[in-house]
Amino acid sequence: MIIAVDGPAASGKGTLAAGLADHYGLPHLDTGLLYRAVGRAVQGIEEGPEFVARAIAAACSLDAKALGDRDALTTAEAGAIASRVAVIAEVRAALFAFQREFATQPGGAVLDGRDIGTKICPDADVKLFIQADSKARMERRARQLEGRGLAVDRYALYHQIEERDARDMLNPHGGFYKADDAHLLDTTQLSIEAALRAAIAIIDRTMALKAGGQ
Ligand code: CDP
Repeated sequence: MIIAVDGPAASGKGTLAAGLADHYGLPHLDTGLLYRAVGRAVQGIEEGPEFVARAIAAACSLDAKALGDRDALTTAEAGAIASRVAVIAEVRAALFAFQREFATQPGGAVLDGRDIGTKICPDADVKLFIQADSKARMERRARQLEGRGLAVDRYALYHQIEERDARDMLNPHGGFYKADDAHLLDTTQLSIEAALRAAIAIIDRTMALKAGGQ
């Protein structure tokens, strides 16, 4: 079974996808980490031809080991630079094979990101699109960062998330929208546990309907 989980920044899709992977005993890939790892390779380089060339080279030679340093990759700054390399078509093309291979492993997988249901796994068995309002998303990300002992300026973080959302939505190579056959789950008012229960209910219902041939 392939489960695709998409949604905007800090919508809770990563936590939800990890919970689903655990529940169904499937491997999980947080595809945002791929873009963050590529972003890390061009940190400090001004945007221009060198930035683009280095980002493409990093995407082409990306090693799964580069995804291990989660704390360094999940800072707000790493998110901002990830969304800058994510607009480069060759970067997206280079990361496609990695994601596709993960998705199609025997038994299936859970992938979360922005374009899983639209571009990476249009054939996924179940697609979820996770939404939450911007303030709730900012607050969640702030608590996550504070939980790691980092100081957070909520005003700056809110604007950083809005700016990244805008860049993502305008990404000409993106596919960052809800697939027609994705189930919308708004988690603004839901705890992590409640969101997970709701997602499991959607998945079980969808798979039961499929098994019944409907
Ligand atoms: O966790 P959060 O939603 O804040 O970010 P993320 O999922 O780690 O993604 C970081 C950035 O990578 C996004 O803002 C996108 O620009 C890019 N990304 C993408 O282009 N395609 C994906 N499948 C996942 C992330």
